[in-house]
Amino acid sequence: MAIPSPAPRRWRIIIPAVAIGLLVVSIAAVVVVPRLGARGNAGSTAGPICAPGTATLARNAGDLKTGFIYQVMLDRFFDGDPANNDPAGDQGLYDPTHQNWKLYWGGDLKGLTDKIPYIAGLGATAIWISPPVQNVTKPLDYGDGNGPQAGYHGYWATDDYRIDPHLGTWADFDAFIAAAHASGLKVLVDFAANHSNPNDLGQFGAIYKNGVLQASYTNDPNGWFHHNPTITDFNDQYDLEYNTLDDLADFAQENPAVDAYLKGAIMQFVAHGVDGFRFDAVKHMPGPTGGWLRTVADGIEAAGPHYLTGEWQTTDPTDPTYPLAARFANSSGIALLNFPVYNAIDNAYGRSALVGPVAINDVLQTESKDFTWLNDQDNFIDNHDFPRFLSVNPSHAALNAALAVVMTIPGIPIVYYGTEQYLHDDTNGGGDPYNRPMMPSFATTTPAYQLLHCLAALRGSNPALAYGTYEGLHFGHALYVFQRQFGANTVVVAVNSASDPVTVKAGQTALPAGTYHDYLNGAFHGPSLTVGAGGAAPAFTLPGNTIAVWQATAPTPTTPLLGSVTPELAQPGDTITLDGQGFAPGAVVKLGSYAATVTATTATSITATVPAMPGGMYQATICAGGTCSAGYPINIATGPQIPVTISVTGLPALAAGDNLYLTGALPELGGGNPAPTAALGPMIAAPTQTTSRFLMVSLPACHTATFTFEIVHLDGTITAGHTAHALNIPCQGEGAATFAWG
Ligand code: NOJ
Ligand code: CA
Repeated sequence: MAIPSPAPRRWRIIIPAVAIGLLVVSIAAVVVVPRLGARGNAGSTAGPICAPGTATLARNAGDLKTGFIYQVMLDRFFDGDPANNDPAGDQGLYDPTHQNWKLYWGGDLKGLTDKIPYIAGLGATAIWISPPVQNVTKPLDYGDGNGPQAGYHGYWATDDYRIDPHLGTWADFDAFIAAAHASGLKVLVDFAANHSNPNDLGQFGAIYKNGVLQASYTNDPNGWFHHNPTITDFNDQYDLEYNTLDDLADFAQENPAVDAYLKGAIMQFVAHGVDGFRFDAVKHMPGPTGGWLRTVADGIEAAGPHYLTGEWQTTDPTDPTYPLAARFANSSGIALLNFPVYNAIDNAYGRSALVGPVAINDVLQTESKDFTWLNDQDNFIDNHDFPRFLSVNPSHAALNAALAVVMTIPGIPIVYYGTEQYLHDDTNGGGDPYNRPMMPSFATTTPAYQLLHCLAALRGSNPALAYGTYEGLHFGHALYVFQRQFGANTVVVAVNSASDPVTVKAGQTALPAGTYHDYLNGAFHGPSLTVGAGGAAPAFTLPGNTIAVWQATAPTPTTPLLGSVTPELAQPGDTITLDGQGFAPGAVVKLGSYAATVTATTATSITATVPAMPGGMYQATICAGGTCSAGYPINIATGPQIPVTISVTGLPALAAGDNLYLTGALPELGGGNPAPTAALGPMIAAPTQTTSRFLMVSLPACHTATFTFEIVHLDGTITAGHTAHALNIPCQGEGAATFAWG
């Protein structure tokens, strides 16, 4: 049930129309020894704690930044149709007692549809559902003492063209999409394109298209799968992309039949009205610098703006795969779940590590240099693959603090179902599968529910959170104060996750002079803040377990303020959405110097069509009355993209640390810039390949690519190949070509 709106309260001050300059402040706080781990609920549970506010900012399928995503494991959310619990043809995979954590427990699409009002009431603006496709139809028993297992989680597909009967039917799926959209919720489908199902048991990877067998791991004459060993080196790209993740039958995406099968299944979901995807295991599929998934994204976005994100697990910016992860996020058109931020939050609030919230700040500072679209990456405090937050730290106050941080730092928040009900099961440390209990309650009164509801409202009304810059202000062992700014819109967040009070030294903010009531209305002990001229804030005390949010929204700007352009990867003819503030009919949209055709305009969103133009990275601008917004980056592809695997043979002996790249004039090949940050690579090799390398790249169909190979040495120097190779890129399907070094 949606929370009723109380009368608006008068704590927001009127913002004078003054320009606010950039304020760079870093003042250490007095550090008080924290007592993280203490259990206790911060905040009141009676009624809504803040006025919901009006969501004035744009919300569309490409841009989820003005809200947050609610992650649901379908089988574990709500049983809306007991008749499908043990469906004909798939029987024996259901445990009505909920004792076997690896069988189906009854949740389904109908149940999720029934609970849409609850999710919308929470303030979520999108739902990420676990893979809904048909999974294995027989139980698997690994003989490990866990008993029979099913694909209740969705990651053991046998037919990517069908809905698993435990979850419902296509009609149930369509009804869910329609109900979600009617409630203003977008839908992201989790899609596992890396693999089918276990190759060593049960159905041995068998994959069907609408019930028609295509291939199985043990009967694979047409090469649908890689028959390679299990991944052992998670820092080696060949191992990651072409070997086998656990025992999951690894699709050969370079096989045109596999490419067509997977893209057909993905586009079937697009035709059913989904708003985007969460792609599973993206670092395990070919071509992280612009390979198979870039061609997938290109095809989806040609059907209209969608939000695409993917799972690339990294520890932190020192992780060996982090540079490629950032490259992937900057070039594929697919954002990433922000694992470095997750780990920093887990350390700061979950594990009470010696390095406190400043580690979150450090990650964000690094990522802001490495990620082109940091506000589009996704932040979370836990998910279905890791112990729930409360299994790591049972303190509700600590969970509330972590939630407040993910809801307000740069990026799109994702909240795992049940977090708002303080759900956790700590068996064996609470990891998979114990992080997937049945949703216990749909109460709307928990402090976490109220907190999310409030901060979701703020994301929808103050654009500093969705589009703004980030600046860390104060740090202590348990203290984190930061601000976000978009134009003259400002949000300042102060979190003290210790149970003792902490004194925050005087400093500066971007808030205009005035007194600010806590946006959370003191429910998490937040005091008011009085700011003097120039944003000067006096020293103040934050009580223990405090979350305080002070915010100022500016009057509608008279010149366009551009905060988002989506999708990140588009091509001529694609629809793009430009979001921000101060838009008016007659505004002109340009991508570099190329004028786009505007098809719709509201005060906060413009829809336009990418004109015929060369590919490359461009700055989008919106101009009105002779004044233009600041530029916002968008990646334009030369044309429809297809996957091409390029190999080079006859390489000279390579020194340790030498890497092969390819570089060419097409923007897809680095636009003629031979630097390894622009060229494509490193090319990879199977262990048996000593004098050859290969790489799957995403290239424009029906074009000619000219390129050279180059060796990038450990010291950064480059040995260029002599020959300009030419490749006629096929007009459809996939390509593959081999060239001699030279
Ligand atoms: C990552 C998913 O999130 C996880 O739950 C799954 O088991 C693996 N990928 C394999 O699909
Ligand atoms: Ca059911």
